[in-house]
Amino acid sequence: MLLGLATFVYYCKNVKTESDYYNPQTLATHDNGEHFVGSKTCMECHADIYNTHLETAHFNSGSMADSSNIKGSFKEGSNILDLKSVEFVMRSDGEYFYQHTRIKNRSTEIPPSKFDIVIGSGVRGQSYLTWDKDDLYQLQASYYTPTDSWVNSPGYPTYYDEPRPIRDACLKCHITYAKTVETSPNGNRFDRSQMIYGIDCERCHGPSAKHVVYHRENPEAIESKFTLKIEDLSRQQRLDLCAQCHSGPRNIVLKGNSFSYATGEDLKQYTKNVDNESSERKLDVHGNQYGLLTRSECFKQTATMDCSTCHDPHRKERGNTAYFNGKCIGCHNDGAKMCSNKAHGSDIMTSNCITCHMPTTPSQAMMVQLTKDSLETSFNIRTHLIGIYEQELWRD
Ligand code: HEC
Ligand code: HEC
Ligand code: HEC
Ligand code: HEC
Ligand code: HEC
Ligand code: HEC
Ligand code: HEC
Repeated sequence: MLLGLATFVYYCKNVKTESDYYNPQTLATHDNGEHFVGSKTCMECHADIYNTHLETAHFNSGSMADSSNIKGSFKEGSNILDLKSVEFVMRSDGEYFYQHTRIKNRSTEIPPSKFDIVIGSGVRGQSYLTWDKDDLYQLQASYYTPTDSWVNSPGYPTYYDEPRPIRDACLKCHITYAKTVETSPNGNRFDRSQMIYGIDCERCHGPSAKHVVYHRENPEAIESKFTLKIEDLSRQQRLDLCAQCHSGPRNIVLKGNSFSYATGEDLKQYTKNVDNESSERKLDVHGNQYGLLTRSECFKQTATMDCSTCHDPHRKERGNTAYFNGKCIGCHNDGAKMCSNKAHGSDIMTSNCITCHMPTTPSQAMMVQLTKDSLETSFNIRTHLIGIYEQELWRD
């Protein structure tokens, strides 16, 4: 009988794991009814892409805070942000991380705020969010990579300010999915059980539960089912996929919410920028690669150029000069004109094209104040308005 029971238990366990395998756990459900299953699920069949994707700024762009991803220092001496009338001290109890607030010349106690979410992979900097129950707020201390120090969060005053409620504005571009709770008075309440951190596979490829189930049940199938074939999309559809986060703030929501758009759909029906209409407006380099690229001759005079012409979204490519030069030369050899800069002689075609033609440019939209007495400093971002620039801008 014991043996029978043991077999029965074993059987139940196995059946459970098997049905788990064919019904992967749903992490969240998109408004269109499709289920997200997370990139760990993709690993078994797309190991190469999964592994390189882990290294990307996208994947690391919004995460739950822990000792591995907070770049700012908690060490005595370098853990302070000193502003005019307030001081913030960053401390850790070994497990969790906190921002302590001391308003100068005042005895008011402000309870410490926990670092819960990290926004930004840290290429240039990071901001931090904190939960108060299910409401989300931004910490006043941010981190700036070029100086390796704590700075005042962009847009915050130099005195103590009430924590800023975070609606979906940061999350919509820095993570895969979040669901706001309708009844939220400040619009900053989220269903914490349905947050998917990082910009993961399913943000670009769509919630993929059906695809995973199909291929697990049909391991012999080599033709993909229940995924969108990105290569078959039109140029505009392919651009829209990136433009949802790389074409300015798009604060005006026309349909659904900030997470409703799905790859393959017409983005302009979902969201737009406040000043969408004016083509003369000077675009900021921060977060508007789409607007700038589409004004470039390279884009206008070719029928197929899109973001994937130069970027493989599954790989970390930053700093890979030879790779990017190869992309320029791919067209500018006999198809498009060669460089006409005579000053550099005949070796110009072996030099770094982007230093001169896509120079790094200070952002007017993203600025930080480094110390209490300094003026605001701009983030420098590489422009996607490919063109001919003054020599002063040629630098790396
Ligand atoms: C059980 C295996 C399996 C799992 C798990 C799986 N896939 Fe696939 N996927 C395939 C197969 C097989 C193909 C077709 C061959 C290929 O393109 O690699 C495919 C193709 C694709 C394609 C290309 C579609 C096209 O036609 O261009 C995408 C995109 C994709 N998968 C995304 C995902 C994502 C995202 C996940 C995780 C949420 C995932 N897959 C999990 C088996 C799987
Ligand atoms: C969900 C919003 C979102 C989508 C969709 C998106 N991006 Fe991004 N992208 C970001 C954010 C946010 C960053 C900054 C990440 C960071 O450093 O924290 C970024 C960074 C990048 C970078 C810089 C990487 C680096 O190493 O610093 C490149 C290149 C890029 N994106 C290209 C693309 C392309 C191409 C697409 C479309 C295939 C795309 N992105 C789609 C939000 C998005
Ligand atoms: C419309 C999309 C969008 C929104 C909304 C957005 N960001 Fe970003 N963010 C980006 C992109 C794209 C980049 C990287 C490239 C660039 O600057 O163009 C970036 C870069 C950053 C970086 C630097 C990341 C790094 O690793 O260097 C930080 C920090 C950041 N954003 C914080 C925030 C915070 C905080 C909010 C909310 C108040 C926010 N962002 C809202 C798209 C967005
Ligand atoms: C930032 C958006 C983005 C993210 C994140 C992303 N992809 Fe892709 N993926 C694309 C684009 C765009 C293409 C089409 C590339 C092209 O046309 O050159 C693509 C193509 C593919 C393909 C088919 C072609 C190929 O390269 O084999 C597979 C499979 C795939 N992705 C799987 C994944 C998986 C798995 C993940 C997560 C580990 C992931 N992708 C994350 C945008 C993304
Ligand atoms: C898909 C093909 C393609 C790619 C890739 C490409 N270009 Fe171009 N580019 C063109 C075409 C076509 C023109 C129009 C003039 C011509 O025929 O050269 C052009 C024009 C230019 C111009 C002249 C701009 C002006 O305003 O007069 C410069 C500079 C330039 N490209 C630099 C680059 C650099 C740098 C890269 C790589 C980062 C690059 N291009 C990638 C096709 C391309
Ligand atoms: C002609 C080639 C080309 C095309 C097309 C292109 N990019 Fe880039 N992109 C680059 C180069 C070169 C860099 C600089 C890489 C580096 O710094 O190592 C870059 C950098 C970026 C960065 C990081 C900027 C920074 O300074 O942090 C983002 C974000 C980005 N690209 C997004 C996009 C998006 C979105 C599209 C489509 C709208 C796009 N790119 C199309 C060549 C291109
Ligand atoms: C040291 C800076 C510098 C570098 C590096 C450089 N260029 Fe140029 N390029 C220029 C200048 C300046 C001009 C305008 C020259 C003139 O017309 O007087 C120019 C012109 C061009 C043009 C317009 C040609 C025409 O006839 O209208 C193209 C295309 C171009 N460059 C492509 C490239 C490519 C591709 C690379 C990389 C292999 C590159 N450049 C590297 C400075 C540079």
